[in-house]
Amino acid sequence: IRDNQSAMEPSKEFVFKYKGFYFAVNNTSVEQIASLENFEIKDSDIFIATYPKSGTVWTQNILSLILHEGHRNGTEDMELLDRIPWLEYNIKNADLASLPLPRVLATHLPYYLVPRDLRNKRGRIIYVTRNPKDVVVSYYHFSKFIATLEEVPDFNIFMERFLAGKVLASSWFDHVAGWYSHAEDFNILFLTYEEMKKDLRSAVLKICNFLGKKLSEEELELVVRQATFENMKKDPRANYENLPDDIAEKEKGRFLRKGTVGDWKNMMTVAQSERFDEVLKEKIETLPIKFTWDTNKEM
Ligand code: PPS
Repeated sequence: IRDNQSAMEPSKEFVFKYKGFYFAVNNTSVEQIASLENFEIKDSDIFIATYPKSGTVWTQNILSLILHEGHRNGTEDMELLDRIPWLEYNIKNADLASLPLPRVLATHLPYYLVPRDLRNKRGRIIYVTRNPKDVVVSYYHFSKFIATLEEVPDFNIFMERFLAGKVLASSWFDHVAGWYSHAEDFNILFLTYEEMKKDLRSAVLKICNFLGKKLSEEELELVVRQATFENMKKDPRANYENLPDDIAEKEKGRFLRKGTVGDWKNMMTVAQSERFDEVLKEKIETLPIKFTWDTNKEM
């Protein structure tokens, strides 16, 4: 399979490349991406930046709970996607300039394609990473039910494409390494999916500190309680269940799928796991992150 060139190439029906990075054909365009360089940043802006399947929607929900819900400012009945739209995939054509402040936006952009002002340390960024074995497995399942992503039924091929950076958002390693090595250019907080999973309360407090936001003990408890996997799964405003039909084929899967650490073990064979390590292990060791690969093992 590794030699099979055509199986390795992502279909142009689904992705296009701009400055070395794969974007979804359906929800954006070269013009739109190029214009983001000049997207005007307000000092209070908060961006959630991630490689796909690393905990974006979870963090979106946490931020929304911290910032909006307590305020009762009219946003509480809105879908998460409306409260916190995507920068480069603004599928509902929200008027990003007129969102209530502080604006929160999500993005999968690599560090070198984000708005210039962010690189001048305006606004804040929360960057979330997840151990890449769980990322690839989550991504594989996601590709099956999102109509705007190419479905690759064979996990082995999907994994090879992932390792070669031939998926939407390109190389996982380049994304993570890029953001970490340019940390100095940004106001940035790094979090991992696994630390959120292990101790959500501490992660929420870290976010609050980063934002200079003080929550009462009850407010903090409320955020933590509502942001658990089980509670988000029950809350249609938080779980992306209402994605438009032309994007999500709802009978094929759910956005909040398992929400665990170490699910890759249920998917990867020993050979696949070894192959994965062969390509990424040395690289991963150069990152300033300790990944948790299952609920009790740190690397
Ligand atoms: S996307 O498409 O890039 O925005 O996806 P993203 O939100 O980054 O990642 C989706 C995975 O995050 C899991 N998730 C959660 N895990 C634990 N707790 C909570 N509250 C939570 N919310 C979302 C979601 O289930 C996806 O992971 P998998 O492993 O597929 O379940």
